[in-house]
Amino acid sequence: MASGEGLEDIVAGKSAISTIDGKRGVLTYRGISIHDLADHSTFEETVYLLWYGRLPKAVELRNFCEQAWAEVRLPKDVVAQLHSLPDDANPMSLLRTGVSLLGLSDPEEGGSNAPEQPAPGVNLIGQLGPEAPGFGPNHPNSKKAVRLLGQMAALVAAIQRLQKHQDLVAPRPGKSIAYNFLLMLTGKEPDEEATRIFDTCLILHADHEFNASTFTARVAAGTLSDLHSAIVAAVCALKGPLHGGANTAVMKMLMEVQDPARAQDWVKDALDKKKKIMGFGHRMYKGEDPRATHLRKMSESLCAKVGRPDLYELSKNIETAMFALKQIKPNVDFYSASVYYSLGIDPELYTPIFAMSRVSGWIAHVLEQLANNRLIRPVADYVGRQDVPYAPLAQR
Ligand code: SDX
Repeated sequence: MASGEGLEDIVAGKSAISTIDGKRGVLTYRGISIHDLADHSTFEETVYLLWYGRLPKAVELRNFCEQAWAEVRLPKDVVAQLHSLPDDANPMSLLRTGVSLLGLSDPEEGGSNAPEQPAPGVNLIGQLGPEAPGFGPNHPNSKKAVRLLGQMAALVAAIQRLQKHQDLVAPRPGKSIAYNFLLMLTGKEPDEEATRIFDTCLILHADHEFNASTFTARVAAGTLSDLHSAIVAAVCALKGPLHGGANTAVMKMLMEVQDPARAQDWVKDALDKKKKIMGFGHRMYKGEDPRATHLRKMSESLCAKVGRPDLYELSKNIETAMFALKQIKPNVDFYSASVYYSLGIDPELYTPIFAMSRVSGWIAHVLEQLANNRLIRPVADYVGRQDVPYAPLAQR
């Protein structure tokens, strides 16, 4: 493959949000290991970290959660418009339209996109937290951001319930995004373990440097387009099976293979036919994806808990076969499929769930892009014909 194809290894800009060391299997958000965040943090705390550059103090976290949790609901006009959409549509297509509708109904629509300027004499370097110049909590973009974070969870749950012709479920005040999403999706109060596992999934999916959807969001933001437009663009990029769409495809594969004893032959046959095995491989990680380490563990314990140890065994056998035949390891999408399945979630919703977490990273990147914006406009290596004479229509 030609060097630079797919922008491989091209540094496309500066960012201080997350970084990956693909050789050592390290991922950090704002310098903090993903393992520490997965083990000790909450999704809301992680979002604060991504947006404001440092972990919140207790009072800051409480305020942030109060704001975000109050937004886990949809405006009535958006719900009405969602009802009019085809209920057999792909949930990612419905999400794309849903985010667009949220943009139209946002009270800050049309508000300023420009960052706040630092006070004269203020040194921006090292200034972190909502008090730092840029996008303080009262900036229109910050208000949109926190609203969209909560609304995305409500939107993903609503998409599923509308598709099943079920009434929407109201969120419980004072409860986390993870808790309320599971409640709004199933209509049943989730237990503590399910809530914690789902919350950890949200943390693990929140950001990942210049992945395709995040880069798409930054390109849109770089034109000084608005926040919702950048997020719609990101949703479009996430939908494809080479990116976020892979988690749904993994579950379909697990359902097709079914028997753990068939895994080896199935993988070999697929590879012989030059098929891509969904949930495997990564542009950055050549060894273990650190997110997969957590998801593998959660898959093992959850599959056992719900009486489907075979699903974990099947996943493990596919992983073993893939490594033996191709030396390729699972990415974030592989074990998240069996985790979500064990939580009772329909496969078609796995990619929208990825989006409801990643919206936090997309927003962080859009704000970072806008804080120091220059239009993103690379060049093409032109390989087409040159000096072609124009032939009038009658002579072609
Ligand atoms: C995500 O970038 C991010 O950070 C993304 C993400 C995030 O958090 O944002 O981590 C989320 O998108 C995870 C990836 C989800 N996609 C899949 O699981 C789809 C299956 N995987 C692949 O198609 C592939 O591995 C990609 C798309 C993830 C990466 O593509 P690259 O870097 O362009 O690699 P490639 O397709 O050029 O593959 C290189 C080699 C090829 O073999 P050779 O031709 O050199 O012999 O590895 C082989 C590929 O055939 N290969 C696979 C494979 N992945 C790579 N072969 C079979 N099955 C696979 N899954």
